[in-house]
Amino acid sequence: MFYLCKLYKYYLRKRRTRLLKGKVDIHPSAILLDSVNFDFRISKISKRIFIDEESMIGCSFIFEADNGSIKIGKRTFINGGTNLISINEIEVGDDVTIGWNVYIYDHDSHSLDYRFRKDDIKRQREDFYANRNFIFSKDWSTVKSAPIKICNKVWIGFNAIILKGVTVGEGAIIAAGAVVTKNVPAWTIVAGNPAKIVKKIEH
Ligand SMILES: CC(C)(COP(=O)(O)OP(=O)(O)OC[C@H]1O[C@@H](n2cnc3c(N)ncnc32)[C@H](O)[C@@H]1OP(=O)(O)O)[C@@H](O)C(=O)NCCC(=O)NCCS
Repeated sequence: MFYLCKLYKYYLRKRRTRLLKGKVDIHPSAILLDSVNFDFRISKISKRIFIDEESMIGCSFIFEADNGSIKIGKRTFINGGTNLISINEIEVGDDVTIGWNVYIYDHDSHSLDYRFRKDDIKRQREDFYANRNFIFSKDWSTVKSAPIKICNKVWIGFNAIILKGVTVGEGAIIAAGAVVTKNVPAWTIVAGNPAKIVKKIEH
């Protein structure tokens, strides 16, 4: 019975990977865990996700607008509960480990100007009553965004948050719960909110 269950789970996983392969670019050796989720809020245009060889992925990929792109390198592991949210560009390198419940968010979602945020809510209500996705008519031109780059060999601990425009340098470690607002130098450990260097890594 145990082996039958295992076999069935394996079959489901293979089937899902096959179904998704037409929509997103996944290397045949990449593994998608049960928790993986592809969420295209507005546009059904896919092919904006690239997952390279021998990676193991359990996170959610969320696209709230027509734009956005997420690339995952080789032999990288991203655990469940983590969200990669893009209207710009998120690039994750090779041999990267990303823990539970991490947010990597390449934009701010809303304007700094309250008048545009007020307009967001007005449009959300209109879209809701029109039976569309509630951010269908959102004006993204008022929202700041910038690409995020996670370089090779990085480790990101659980509950960390990486904000727009950040580059995390090679081999760096982001401590659990850190809020990263600025670039992280290679081979350093950063922690806290806002994240600061707490250690350097011998390599
Ligand atoms: C990043 C980490 C691995 C570093 O471990 P370490 O090398 O043993 O670090 P230390 O305990 O020596 O801490 C160094 C300093 O950073 C601070 N620090 C460490 N982790 C911190 C955190 N998450 N938030 C805030 N400060 C932190 C320590 O208090 C210490 O400060 P001090 O020098 O003023 O005393 C560890 O802190 C961590 O975050 N572990 C969780 C890993 C994880 O998320 N695993 C599961 C998902 S894959």
